[in-house]
Amino acid sequence: MKRRLPEPRVTPTPEALFLGRRKFLKGVGQGLGALSLASAFPLLGSAADPVAPAKSPYAPRLNPAFPPLADRRLTPAAVAGRYNNFYEFTTDKASVARLAAGFPTDPWTITVGGLVEKPFSIGIEDLMARFPAEERIYRMRCVEGWSMVVPWDGFPFAKFIDYCKPLSAARHLRFVSFNDPKHAPGQRDTSFPWPYYEGLRLDEARHDLTLGVTGVYGKPLPMQHGAPFRVVVPWKYGYKSPKSIVSIEFVAQQPPTFWNDLAPDEYSYLSNVDPRVPHPRWSQETERDIGNDDLRIPTLPYNGYADQVASLYKS
Ligand code: MTE
Repeated sequence: MKRRLPEPRVTPTPEALFLGRRKFLKGVGQGLGALSLASAFPLLGSAADPVAPAKSPYAPRLNPAFPPLADRRLTPAAVAGRYNNFYEFTTDKASVARLAAGFPTDPWTITVGGLVEKPFSIGIEDLMARFPAEERIYRMRCVEGWSMVVPWDGFPFAKFIDYCKPLSAARHLRFVSFNDPKHAPGQRDTSFPWPYYEGLRLDEARHDLTLGVTGVYGKPLPMQHGAPFRVVVPWKYGYKSPKSIVSIEFVAQQPPTFWNDLAPDEYSYLSNVDPRVPHPRWSQETERDIGNDDLRIPTLPYNGYADQVASLYKS
């Protein structure tokens, strides 16, 4: 992001656990269909994380189309949950979880408006009941040059779009995150144009890979990951996946977005992962695999999802 931060230390996975899991993961890709990742790897969803209490049993099952990756190790929950970008709280990745713990998310309502048949609001419990979560293991690539592999729990966002009944004039979605400087200290920094706002083209938002996310590692989202509801768009840089969404608007024109407004030369509207296009201040050819020895690995076009999404950008 614009203000480069000192990289915090990352707690490595204990080696025995990591090696054991790695061997296990090699053979496990096909066989997990009926299990949630958390039940397969109870240690990953470690109780060390401040996880929001589930109101009803939350037991997402792994969608076998998105199994553990053959070429990447899963990022341990305790690592992913201690290395977060959530500027509403702080720009220090290692402090987000602590500062975000206890943020009030009950009640939580998402308003849907703009070019839809009928604007409405939906409470998070209702959303979670109507759209049961499945688990998908996705690559996550931040524009800052690091990445993780994360088991997100959620539903195909296209289902929610259908539920919203957009009008034919709708071409983009505009997402807005919460605005609560009382509880979110980063929002007292008025050099940022709070609240966080992002946008997607309607065809991108409808793509099967775009996930409406209510959980991670088999449990409801902890605050540092964007409780209680976020969107994850795995072929784009991480900032295109807004956290803690309170409003979704269907619009005809491309909406302004937070990072693009702050630094238009650095953060484009599309922001598809592309190793050939350097950030003006650093290369995007490689990435650091956080928590997995910080290995430097080549970055893949569309973050490894080219086969699924390249056709969206043919023209
Ligand atoms: N959403 C909001 N509301 N605020 C943020 O600061 N940061 C983005 C994205 N969504 C951000 C956000 C960035 S830069 C990244 S890399 C991811 O969230 C990080 O998600 P994670 O912490 O759950 O891994």
